[in-house]
Amino acid sequence: MSFYLTLFAFVAFSCNSKKTEQKDKAANTNSNIEQRVNDLLGLMTQEEKLGQLAQYSNPYQQTGDGKSSEHNDNFDEMIRKGQIGSFLNVTGVDETLRLQKIAVEESRLKIPLIFGLDVIHGLKTMMPIPLAEAASFDRTAMEKSTRIAAIEAAAVGLHWTFAPMVDISRDPRWGRIMEGAGEDVFLGVEAAKARVKGFQGDNLADANTIAACAKHFVGYGAAIAGRDYNGVDMSDRLMREVYLPPFKAAVDAGVATFMSAFNTLGGVPASGSKYLQTDILRGEWGFDGFVVSDWNTAGELLNHGSAADGAEGAYFGFNAGVDMDMESRLYVANIDSLIKIGKLKQEQLDEAVRRILRVKFRLGLFDNPYQYNDKKKEETMLLTPEHLAASRDIAKRSIVLLKNEKNLLPLSKVGKTIAVIGPLANDKDSPLGNWRAHAVPNSAVSLLEGIKAAVPENTNVLFAEGTKLINNAGAHFFMNLEINKTDRSGFAEAIATAKKADVVVMALGEVAYMSGECRSYADLGLQGLQLELLKEIRKTGKPIVLTLFNGRPMVLTDVVGETDAILNCWLLGSESGNAIADVLFGDYNPSGKLPASFPYHVGQIPIYYEHFSTGRPSLDAGGGFATMYRDIPNDPLFPFGFGLSYTTFEYSGLKISSAKPKFGEKIKITATIKNTGNYDGEEVVQLYIHDVAAHGVARPVKQLKGFEKVLIKKGETVEVKFELTAEDLAFVRLDNSWGAEAGKFNVFVGSASNDLRLKGEFDLIE
Ligand code: NOJ
Repeated sequence: MSFYLTLFAFVAFSCNSKKTEQKDKAANTNSNIEQRVNDLLGLMTQEEKLGQLAQYSNPYQQTGDGKSSEHNDNFDEMIRKGQIGSFLNVTGVDETLRLQKIAVEESRLKIPLIFGLDVIHGLKTMMPIPLAEAASFDRTAMEKSTRIAAIEAAAVGLHWTFAPMVDISRDPRWGRIMEGAGEDVFLGVEAAKARVKGFQGDNLADANTIAACAKHFVGYGAAIAGRDYNGVDMSDRLMREVYLPPFKAAVDAGVATFMSAFNTLGGVPASGSKYLQTDILRGEWGFDGFVVSDWNTAGELLNHGSAADGAEGAYFGFNAGVDMDMESRLYVANIDSLIKIGKLKQEQLDEAVRRILRVKFRLGLFDNPYQYNDKKKEETMLLTPEHLAASRDIAKRSIVLLKNEKNLLPLSKVGKTIAVIGPLANDKDSPLGNWRAHAVPNSAVSLLEGIKAAVPENTNVLFAEGTKLINNAGAHFFMNLEINKTDRSGFAEAIATAKKADVVVMALGEVAYMSGECRSYADLGLQGLQLELLKEIRKTGKPIVLTLFNGRPMVLTDVVGETDAILNCWLLGSESGNAIADVLFGDYNPSGKLPASFPYHVGQIPIYYEHFSTGRPSLDAGGGFATMYRDIPNDPLFPFGFGLSYTTFEYSGLKISSAKPKFGEKIKITATIKNTGNYDGEEVVQLYIHDVAAHGVARPVKQLKGFEKVLIKKGETVEVKFELTAEDLAFVRLDNSWGAEAGKFNVFVGSASNDLRLKGEFDLIE
């Protein structure tokens, strides 16, 4: 082809592709989508409408191994008849394409299926568990993590993830605390926004973005006594001030879907609550996506005793506003007859179908149903070096330095003998965490591997397991773990190994499946023989760095004194060992802060910094009677927002733009932070407020209202700026309205919720 011809062809092609792009964009404007949804709805039979509400799990893929070896002919036929709207746990370009083709080419109305999976912290490249990422206090990191998860998920034919979990939790006994952002409202809101943005990108219709799902609506993280699925009871005030804001933030960030929760809330099952799904979510917040039930929640209404039979289960679930039925099969069986007897209205069914179709349109599935089925992407977009590098970067930002006696850390890489000891030291599986989608078992970089890769050849790295944590290695999602409480056969070797070393790095904590769904624990200390092993190693007199692997805040009261330094390493994903080595040897200065309090004692739970003041906060104020335990302190061992650095930061110069700001005015708060130590470092500068007198309502002793993570080179100074408006000071007032009250507010800026170095105040005036 001549140069001109080539040029002509290129221009023609780009004009054409621009036209198609414009057409696609036009096709996806909201008004157009509404028109198309309504047109389609007008053509649907009752059976096809009910079909859109039905979501089934792939029977061959319950454990999420990424493969579907057999075809389910029954499902094929049901798709053909328009009886299925969605699948969960069906993945892989081939199988999703095969099923999608049946829907789009062989069903009457050619309505595409939507495929969902729990992509919680990565698809194949595992990122740190969400709780760990929250510890990074790094919005960019959280967004990047979910962006990569979305790219990989979309590359295996998925359209939708059941994430982010935005449940606040103040109870580390609850194993699902690993899936969220911890105890705090503000951090929870920021994490929700970042994660929705990461999954959904700027345009849901892009081939590498997937629909997100804010779950579990609502209160699931407040399960009584920390037992998963347990009932929840809280005031409307608490729900609106603490548990709802991350969900509202997800709506404001454009989240496509919601999932209803398993728990009861004030005696009413959340998945059968019209107040939640219809009045608040749709009525107050204007959410126009769809709500999917959690697994069989309509069926579980019978177990709750709130529904007498399947028909009532379907009625209460659907009537509440839960549109799509995950696996209970009760909607398909009952909704039509409930309409016929007048219990439900036809318009309710039409509206639910409309919401589901709307999301399918927004995903671009009607215009390009196979755009997620690109074999080449499946072969090339997973576990890429870029994704692994990002995982390592996010992981190192999530590590929290809890203790560093005599500046033992960072360790020198050169000329030392380092003993790496403990059941998790060479564990390549636990760092992958629970909810691991398509992760390859045993594929994480272990701590031992990370350390070995980081040090030069003349550094001696020794290893001893010391004790097993669980006896049934390889136990997975559906299995009970058998904790080793008797086998000490590895102790002697571990002690001998420690004796040969200059420093011991202990790897203790939890394996992957000690946290996650149905993984509640009452004992949050080191399980099994781990503490005993630590104490034996301590007797050698060698300096000990504890690297703690954990999916939840742990109780370390007996542990801290047996160590010289502690790095809280969570479950950090594919690159765990490398990221920990980056921090151990000072290639990265730790910058994480705790997203949830680490209790001093299990008896303190629920424990959180944002509590109310009682009428007797101290012995003085209470005339000798105070809100206190007689045997333990009130405070946690490590509080929210706490985390050390290899350097030190000095806070000064708090400025507040106005001593008497008016409603509607921006309140600007600045502080000066100087790096006064010997390393460059990042600090999470935290802004807290306290509403001193709230006109008839008690307010928490402090509340996080802003944070900025800033890199400050050694010797340098930065000014950090925050901005507040009256909306940031709002709460549920005495008359139940939402808003701020005029009056005095204390302002604190500091390095942790218990380390508030600067204090000021302002008076909000009408
Ligand atoms: C139950 C869990 O509670 C929910 O979070 C998850 O998305 C569904 N199962 C589907 O796996």
